[in-house]
Amino acid sequence: MLKPDAIQRGIAFELLSRFEKRGLRFAALRLLKVDRAMAEKHYAVHKGKFFYDDLVKVITASPVVASVLEGPNAIAVVRSMVGSTRPHEATEGSIRGDYALVGLRNLVHASDAPETAASEIALWFPEGVVSYARDIDRWMSEDKAPS
Ligand code: CDP
Ligand code: MG
Repeated sequence: MLKPDAIQRGIAFELLSRFEKRGLRFAALRLLKVDRAMAEKHYAVHKGKFFYDDLVKVITASPVVASVLEGPNAIAVVRSMVGSTRPHEATEGSIRGDYALVGLRNLVHASDAPETAASEIALWFPEGVVSYARDIDRWMSEDKAPS
């Protein structure tokens, strides 16, 4: 998910483009203004933490772009491309390392495990995602040997 700061800064498609160039495939994409109820569901795991109220405030302040990316090792690849939570610790070359300075303006949310990905996809895309194959996928997946 591109958080509000990414859209406000006008770099939404620049950031999405990184994932697409890496080889991941969009299975869903949506721009929306997040209400408090959705924000609380999305950040339920962080309830009670010192940064929770600020997180909810930021994500409801302005639209986000939610997306689902598919591909081999998608979760690990996206997490590594996004970089460390605290941008001053993020490596250069990662999104946070290249574009962000502080934790509450770190531009991107990324699911951290198959279980959280499944529940987040259900939350943001209750109508489901779009399944399709691209011809190029067999050149980027070991499951689909070129023939
Ligand atoms: O986004 P990520 O999975 O890397 O971090 P998280 O631990 O799931 O925390 C969610 C969000 O809370 C982060 O992306 C930050 O925006 C914020 N946060 C923060 O501002 N300061 C912290 N020490 C931890 C999290
Ligand atoms: Mg997280």
